[in-house]
Amino acid sequence: MSAFWSNFVIVISAAMMVACLWLLFANAKGVTGQTGEHVWDDDLREYNNPLPRWWLNLFVLTVLFAAGYLAFYPGLGNLSGRLGWTSRGQMEADLARITASRRAAYKALDGQSIPELARNPAAQSLGRAVFMANCAGCHGADAAGAIGYPNLADADWKFGGSPEAIVASITHGRTAMMPPLNGTLSAQALQELVDFVPFWSDETLPARKREAGLRQFAARCSGCHGADGRGLAALGSPNLTDDIWLYGGGRERVRQAILFGRSGQMPAHESLLDADEIRVVAAWVYGLSAHDGAAK
Ligand code: HEC
Ligand code: HEC
Repeated sequence: MSAFWSNFVIVISAAMMVACLWLLFANAKGVTGQTGEHVWDDDLREYNNPLPRWWLNLFVLTVLFAAGYLAFYPGLGNLSGRLGWTSRGQMEADLARITASRRAAYKALDGQSIPELARNPAAQSLGRAVFMANCAGCHGADAAGAIGYPNLADADWKFGGSPEAIVASITHGRTAMMPPLNGTLSAQALQELVDFVPFWSDETLPARKREAGLRQFAARCSGCHGADGRGLAALGSPNLTDDIWLYGGGRERVRQAILFGRSGQMPAHESLLDADEIRVVAAWVYGLSAHDGAAK
């Protein structure tokens, strides 16, 4: 605020307070019981009573309160008030208090490994809170995932379920890329794959179909999904033999994957979460699949 407007506000505010007091005292007189000149309906009269004393005093108090407030807090133009209070200073103090208590909560967990954190109830509740705020929207509140969003609560991992792999997935994100193979394979090859891949784990699948499917798989898919079809963590290609499907099982879904490709994106969280938060949320996720007896 420029000096002119600051002074303008100061003068107007002070004048208003003086005017209010003047108005109150100017009207404080009047004589109880005295009637005015007007008479309505024969006997209805207008009285000229003053405001009750306590009422008047309340008004005076509000004006005094305003003066006191403006003396101690900012409000009069650019004057900062005797207490030097500012909303920004208040916000910074609150933030410092919250940061300190947060730091203290994490400090107690310093030096613990992810499997240890996964068994520590305090770390679990911190990790769960980070998960609910940042991950549940995609992976679900129970971390069981949905079509296109992997289940983090089971022991099936595309990129690896070790503490390091989970931390890396969260920190740097992951992109799995299966290219569309439309146009690169004959209708017969596609049919043989679609008749086999969704039923890999089904022991009743006729041997003839299994052999034809495996032949196509070895030629076109094993480079990325591994010779045994169990996936490669480096590419994030899933295990196709376990009947766990990220995009749904069955012929139609698998046909779509082959023809049009699939590309899941786990966003990097290094700029969204600090190292402490990543550690506790990784530990919470790690604990879900209950490795070596970690808390469930
Ligand atoms: C915008 C949606 C989204 C958000 C938010 C998200 N994820 Fe993911 N996440 C994915 C997708 C999609 C994948 C699978 C990526 C792929 O197929 O390449 C994935 C993969 C993962 C994996 C690897 C799973 C495996 O099988 O190897 C982990 C671990 C993971 N997410 C944990 C988290 C955690 C913890 C958070 C919160 C801090 C989080 N994600 C937030 C979408 C998300
Ligand atoms: C260039 C590497 C590459 C090739 C070649 C490839 N895939 Fe994939 N495939 C992937 C990756 C990576 C994913 C994971 C995509 C994701 O998570 O978004 C995937 C996902 C899939 C899925 C989805 C699995 C699920 O859980 O829903 C199916 C089915 C699949 N591939 C089948 C095949 C078949 C059959 C072939 C051979 C015709 C093939 N893929 C060839 C890399 C490949």
